[in-house]
Amino acid sequence: MSTLEEDVFSGLTAYPKKLPSKYIYDKTGDELFQKIMDMPEYYLTRAEFQILKKHKEKLSKVFDAFGGFDLIELGAGDGKKTKILLKHFMEKGLDFHYTPIDISQNVLDSLKASLKEELPGLQVTSRQGMYFKVLQDLAGYNKRRKIIMVLGSNIGNLMHKKAIDFLKNIRDSMGEDDLLFMGFDQKKHPQVILDAYNDNTGITAAFNKNLLVRINRELDADFEPDNFLHWETYNPETGTAKSFLVAKEPMTVQLKKISLEVHFKAWETIHTEISQKYDDDTVRWLAGQSDLVITEIFGTDDEAYKNYIFKRR
Ligand code: AVJ
Repeated sequence: MSTLEEDVFSGLTAYPKKLPSKYIYDKTGDELFQKIMDMPEYYLTRAEFQILKKHKEKLSKVFDAFGGFDLIELGAGDGKKTKILLKHFMEKGLDFHYTPIDISQNVLDSLKASLKEELPGLQVTSRQGMYFKVLQDLAGYNKRRKIIMVLGSNIGNLMHKKAIDFLKNIRDSMGEDDLLFMGFDQKKHPQVILDAYNDNTGITAAFNKNLLVRINRELDADFEPDNFLHWETYNPETGTAKSFLVAKEPMTVQLKKISLEVHFKAWETIHTEISQKYDDDTVRWLAGQSDLVITEIFGTDDEAYKNYIFKRR
């Protein structure tokens, strides 16, 4: 079985049912996420854009402190935010190499094409793959300073235990002088968070339901996406935003490719995604658990979103 097949099998035979959010991102999922980033409710992208714009000079000095570096971005996406930094670094004539990494080859191809046009002369080598695998390869690479960058609060898709595994993995690939630069969406008014993940145009609903559409296509299944309701919750105590698809009526779904028949009772759920929200204490705790220390914090004026620099402890 492929990993998709295994994960779908175990997720839909578990109780309660769940599906990993990483499988949302096929061509349609990538496009829907682009639309999410343009939504007025989805403040995260704009907030981080402002932080990078405001602090690009300071960041160029910190990153280039030893003269020359490799910028490795996990989950590069469309690079819209990263281009602010890349452009600034090039204008300053810094000696750096950019390595965008993403699970979506489709996303990387369009990123490469746009970089070639917008920033000719940029040294870039893209890599397709899961973070964990690629990080292992990077550990042996120590020619010069590495700056590992993870934007967009992508870490928020991982519950704390897995987030620590992820951070430890990054930490193990870092040398003494290397830095980690990472974005963390912050706890804020619960309604603001709910609105960001529950737009009334239905884009986020379609984004989550794309899991079912993809499973229909790739596992020869017969989910009826319209028979599911997208439901978002936010727990202000834990800072966890959680997305569900809820069955509106009893259903039986066939997944022919993996010979699986799945029954849904009315109002039974599939948990699809978490988007964790943070505060400084939680980020400091995560860093400590992963043998990292925070060296600098950059936030928006309203502290709705922050980017942190870490080094090895
Ligand atoms: C890409 C994981 C950061 O959790 O905010 C957006 C994905 N899900 N709207 C997030 C997402 C619903 C996004 N990340």
